[in-house]
Amino acid sequence: MPAFYAKRLSWDTLRRRTPLIWIFLAAVLSLCVFVSAVWMSPLSTYLGMRLIPSVAPLEEPKQVSATRAYLRAGSIGTEGLGSTLHHFKHSIVLSGALDSSLIFSWDVIYDAKHEIDVYSTSRIWNGEKSPIGSRAPSLTIDARKTCRISDHLPSADRAALVRGLCSGEEWASEEMERIKLAMQDCTSIVDTEYSEHTQDLNGCIMGWIRDRLAPDSHFLPSTLSLPPNRPITVGVHVRWGDTRSDFKEYGGSNLYGSMALPNVVRILNDIRERLGQHGVKLTVSMQLHDPDVLAILNETQLDYTVIDSGDTVGDLYKLSNNDILLVGESSYGVLAHLIAPPGLTIVEMQVHLGKYTNTTAFGRNVVELEDYNPDDLLLAVGA
Ligand SMILES: *[C@@H]1O[C@H](CO)[C@@H](O)[C@H](O)[C@H]1NC(C)=O
Ligand SMILES: *[C@@H]1O[C@H](CO)[C@@H](O)[C@H](O)[C@H]1NC(C)=O
Repeated sequence: MPAFYAKRLSWDTLRRRTPLIWIFLAAVLSLCVFVSAVWMSPLSTYLGMRLIPSVAPLEEPKQVSATRAYLRAGSIGTEGLGSTLHHFKHSIVLSGALDSSLIFSWDVIYDAKHEIDVYSTSRIWNGEKSPIGSRAPSLTIDARKTCRISDHLPSADRAALVRGLCSGEEWASEEMERIKLAMQDCTSIVDTEYSEHTQDLNGCIMGWIRDRLAPDSHFLPSTLSLPPNRPITVGVHVRWGDTRSDFKEYGGSNLYGSMALPNVVRILNDIRERLGQHGVKLTVSMQLHDPDVLAILNETQLDYTVIDSGDTVGDLYKLSNNDILLVGESSYGVLAHLIAPPGLTIVEMQVHLGKYTNTTAFGRNVVELEDYNPDDLLLAVGA
């Protein structure tokens, strides 16, 4: 080593340069300790994801990959699976508009009565619990440049922008274009907004839901033909909450989230008459099923299968996987409709929350009970 280097780096020289050099070194050291503390802290566990350490690449990529993560880190509530969807529709639309893949941090649904975690919403919404195979998003987060959506889109403007995007308004796409440009270098995006409660807009997110949650088509029955060449399959959802209180007293006709059972019985008769050449296979989805409630259906003397395994996703698939669905406005029923194969959903609406607005797509038709006439059953072929 040449003499002048040795001199420059000698202990004496360094000591003479104090205190500036020591302050600098202390600052660097503190920064390192701070960074590793955050890294090892429960924050990374909370995120529940593998994080890529921020190693500076030799060359910065010019275009950020379309597979960048959009992490929804806020809670998505502790309701049923269908209702949790009300809390992140904005994130679905925004992540799509920002060419990013929506993933969810760890969150569980807790059953206070039985004191157990019922299921993990993030594992379901991240596609880990559904047979979607290669469509499941990567849970890897490239954290080299993590940006917050709220820094580019104020909370107060979020709902209006998303609605504007969903109805294809020009100002909204222009505004989104501006945000997209501002966030183009972000390697990942974090969304901590958790105050959303959107009941409608399901038409706008139907594609995402199907992509993320619907089983592949080979899990599904062949589309019905006319006249039917096989038994027609019918799914009925009886919302859990509906069967708890006055349901039985009113003979299954006083419901909030399900189709009233006398209406189910009437439509089943129409189905048998019009499309029942090869029989009708009835499936009733009813959590904690109650024989007294099912007895109301039993008047039809039909054979049926009850779905009540406690496996939220498995039960959802069995309910959705039918040519015809008879449902109310329960969010679980809506979810079944959103991922259902081509066919027909008949919905009895009590409150008209707009949950079925614009959800006629992917060969799935919707008829409101108040407009229903038996000819509508022909829509079950998924035309
Ligand atoms: C339904 O679609 C129309 C046309 O795109 C749109 O204007 C409207 O906002 C949508 N409504 C909902 C609730 O999604
Ligand atoms: C349905 O009716 C049959 C005979 O009428 C009876 O044996 C059966 O227990 C009933 N099922 C339910 C769930 O009530």
